[in-house]
Amino acid sequence: MIIEPRMRGFICLTAHPEGCAANVINQINYVKSQGPIDGPKNVLVIGASTGFGLSSRITSAFGAHASTIGVFFEKAPQAGKTATPGWYNSAAFQAEAEKAGLYAKSINGDAFSDEVKSKTIELIKKDLGKIDLIIYSLASPVRTNPKTGVTHRSTLKPIGQAFTNKTVDFHTGIVSNISIEPCTQEDIDNTVAVMGGEDWELWMDALSEAGVLSENVLSVAYSYIGPALTEPVYRKGTIGMAKDHLEATAFTITDKLKNLNGKAIVSVNKALVTQASSAIPVIPLYISLLYKTMKEEGIHEGCIEQMYRLFKDRLYTGQEMLKDEKGRIRVDDWEMRPDVQAKVDALWAKADTETLPEIGDLKGYKSDFLNLFGFGFEGVDYTADVNENVPMELA
Ligand code: NAI
Repeated sequence: MIIEPRMRGFICLTAHPEGCAANVINQINYVKSQGPIDGPKNVLVIGASTGFGLSSRITSAFGAHASTIGVFFEKAPQAGKTATPGWYNSAAFQAEAEKAGLYAKSINGDAFSDEVKSKTIELIKKDLGKIDLIIYSLASPVRTNPKTGVTHRSTLKPIGQAFTNKTVDFHTGIVSNISIEPCTQEDIDNTVAVMGGEDWELWMDALSEAGVLSENVLSVAYSYIGPALTEPVYRKGTIGMAKDHLEATAFTITDKLKNLNGKAIVSVNKALVTQASSAIPVIPLYISLLYKTMKEEGIHEGCIEQMYRLFKDRLYTGQEMLKDEKGRIRVDDWEMRPDVQAKVDALWAKADTETLPEIGDLKGYKSDFLNLFGFGFEGVDYTADVNENVPMELA
């Protein structure tokens, strides 16, 4: 079929298999061009099919020559209906890993469930024995707690009072004011249940009990802080409470891993266009101003540049890890540079529908968004008939 982008709100309903493959290959080539990393050997990536998780998997495999197991929740293609991008990304990743002689197996299912955890453990036991790095990179709006059976839905709301600020519809470029009503305590609890650290801890407990963690094992989960501008809806909002919980969980897990001299740590990453971040009000406008500023400064990074830098310059330097006062790794350091933030603040004050094309990088935002679904890649003929039914061998 001929596959074109079909947008609905913040999502694109179609994905292009060849474009997704091009995205994966570009990321692999980036990692290869940067040189090898003396890094992990056997890696489990939970949330491995898009965004930071996919880039972590690519960095592990093609930077450190690691064997990787990826867990994700993606829709397979059906005749006449494309798969989700993470499916095509993972199929392409597996094909490239195989060509390179790298072990790569994937599990498609609900990572929050006991069943997927058991299946993953069985696979590790069978094929790898033990793992030395676990990346926890899930972004989901919903989680069913396997112990209670309760389904929690996360929200993106301010706490205490309504929040009004500018936002952009990145499809139309229209900047408008948005008001978000404050959350209830239940919203906070639900968001913490979905995006906090409980499931990360359950994974680490299960892996530990199964005896599949190596001596000196490392586990890394991802967080975000961002500027004062987005604080009410992000870091001091419902999602921020979940991130506080995730960050606190790193210490709980580290305590439990003492006998293995293991560590759990949170890396604070840069704001990037992913399926998860496009859905958060205010953030797309901030990102388009941030991209403009960081590109002008020559310090812009995408997921793969961030993850390569995380592995090479933070996690596997052979020295004590550089952490902030709260024990977190920071690869949002360039985003948070005072000069960068001062420029974004000044642009924010000026941003409206008329000025944005000039002062913001809406073009970069849109192109990154389309790229997520495999559209807009050079060398891909989007007018050609392609087979949407890309198979993937799953464990
Ligand atoms: P994403 O939406 O690109 O990727 C999410 C991954 O989770 C996908 O592989 C998806 O298949 C998987 N997933 C979702 N629900 C699942 C389930 N029930 N079972 C199995 N797999 C499931 O997200 P992104 O943006 O890469 O986020 C990953 C982490 O990075 C999140 O913790 C996010 O808060 C954090 N982060 C994101 C930033 C951003 O700007 N995008 C900035 C800093 C941190």
